[in-house]
Amino acid sequence: MQKYLIKDLADYEGKSITLMGWASNKRESKGLVFIVLRDGTGWCQCVVSIDVVGETIFEEARKITLESSLSITGNIVKDERQMGGYELQATAVSLIGASVDYPIAKKEHGIDFLMDKRHLWLRSQRQWAIMKIRNQIIFAIHKFFQGEGFVEMDAPLFTGNACEGTSNLFETDYYGDTAYLSQSGQLYGEAMALSLGKIYTFGPTFRAEKSKTRRHLSEFWMIEPEMAFFDLFENMDLIEKFLRYVTTEVLENCEKELALIGRDTSVLQNIIKPFPRLTYDEAVRIIKGEQDVNGKNAITSLEQELASVQTRINAIKAEIAEREEKLKMPGMKKGEIGFNQAQIDKLKQEAGDAEEQERNIPQWLNSARNFEYGNDFGGSDETVITRLFDVPVMVYNWPHEVKAFYLKRDPDNNRFARGVDVLAPEGYGEIVGGGERETNEALLIEKIKEHQLPMEAFEWYLDLRRYGTVPHAGFGLGLERLVTWICKLPHVRESIPFPRMYGRLLP
Ligand code: 4AD
Repeated sequence: MQKYLIKDLADYEGKSITLMGWASNKRESKGLVFIVLRDGTGWCQCVVSIDVVGETIFEEARKITLESSLSITGNIVKDERQMGGYELQATAVSLIGASVDYPIAKKEHGIDFLMDKRHLWLRSQRQWAIMKIRNQIIFAIHKFFQGEGFVEMDAPLFTGNACEGTSNLFETDYYGDTAYLSQSGQLYGEAMALSLGKIYTFGPTFRAEKSKTRRHLSEFWMIEPEMAFFDLFENMDLIEKFLRYVTTEVLENCEKELALIGRDTSVLQNIIKPFPRLTYDEAVRIIKGEQDVNGKNAITSLEQELASVQTRINAIKAEIAEREEKLKMPGMKKGEIGFNQAQIDKLKQEAGDAEEQERNIPQWLNSARNFEYGNDFGGSDETVITRLFDVPVMVYNWPHEVKAFYLKRDPDNNRFARGVDVLAPEGYGEIVGGGERETNEALLIEKIKEHQLPMEAFEWYLDLRRYGTVPHAGFGLGLERLVTWICKLPHVRESIPFPRMYGRLLP
């Protein structure tokens, strides 16, 4: 049986076809039932008229409930007013699977409820659009690396050694021994790069972080290229080219999806501009307000914003009170009541967002004012700095104590390690971490000891320095962090089909 898809409706204008999908919406008016059918490729309004289908089918169509699965046959006609531009005028409707009391209604649900119903929530338009964008990003990642001559290779997920510190390892039993779920494929990536030159891994990674932030998942997907004969600066060039490519592909191929989720794409368009490259020292001066960015000061701009947020909250609250008073007035028309109620709901949402800013800004200010030179950046520090930029920012040359053991010590100043973090703009923060790798066996052994890692588990890794070492570098991009920024999501949990995070294992 030929399968017809909603995304291809333009090919079937004037023809009769059968669509199969789910009822995402239904309304009735005299002698007509309007069913919005979704099939995973799009949404199509199907009109069932009693005059066309007869009473029996019409009555069945009337009984169709939200998210029932069905097939609908009918003629495809152009209708610019409809989403997708076409409408199906039904001649037959047939139920496949009933859906009784679908739990996600049109009214607003809290985020915990929606996360509990994630298996159903994925059917909604917004989640659909985010998943389509995620898919486009994954496709673009493979296209980019394959086009640049990289070979995709896979790193194991059961590992005998830590890569990114021992504090967030998931431990598991491995035939009586302890194994850890991989925090990063990088160490294996280095071995593979010394075999095939330029490789990338793309797989799940695990971090047992007991933090409920908007940036942390316990299981996330990471893309980790590793390149022989690359230094830190060539690595940064590659990161920039890569992020520009992926973002441009999304802009070119996901216009509809970005519009559906209401993403203002102007910041994404900036991706063509060069990414500022700051040393750690410069970045710290910016966070502490000792250095401006394009005439903007991190501290004073936050102070001003806090004041204006407070003014805004007061104004919104006054308007809500005024509209609520109006609603109490006698003789108000039904339409007027509805309009005022809708305005009040909208204002309450705005007030909620502003109040969140009112809570966040003092925290950001506090961490910026008290930042101590030599520390790694926390989420707040990343927010403070990236709010000043409209393109991703690279921060390199970090104090070696705060970064991973495998990073190369800067030959010009051994206080620093040749690591780089890429911070996404609009307050999003780190999306990429990477750097040039230490090739000196003695320095590496010293670092392994300093980090109190078990030497025997790293013998194979040290071999890579003993048998024909070369300068090499690479990076890791957290897929969900990139999806979150590109879609401008408030939290990373919406960027992956089934998030695993502290406090959540179901569904
Ligand atoms: O900075 P990280 O820890 O770097 C590494 O793992 C290196 N071994 C990568 C390499 O050089 N090959 O992690 C890299 C990226 C982060 O920038 C972030 O995007 C993502 O992985 N990430 C997380 N994403 C979601 N939830 C978490 N808990 C994450 N931790 C890291």
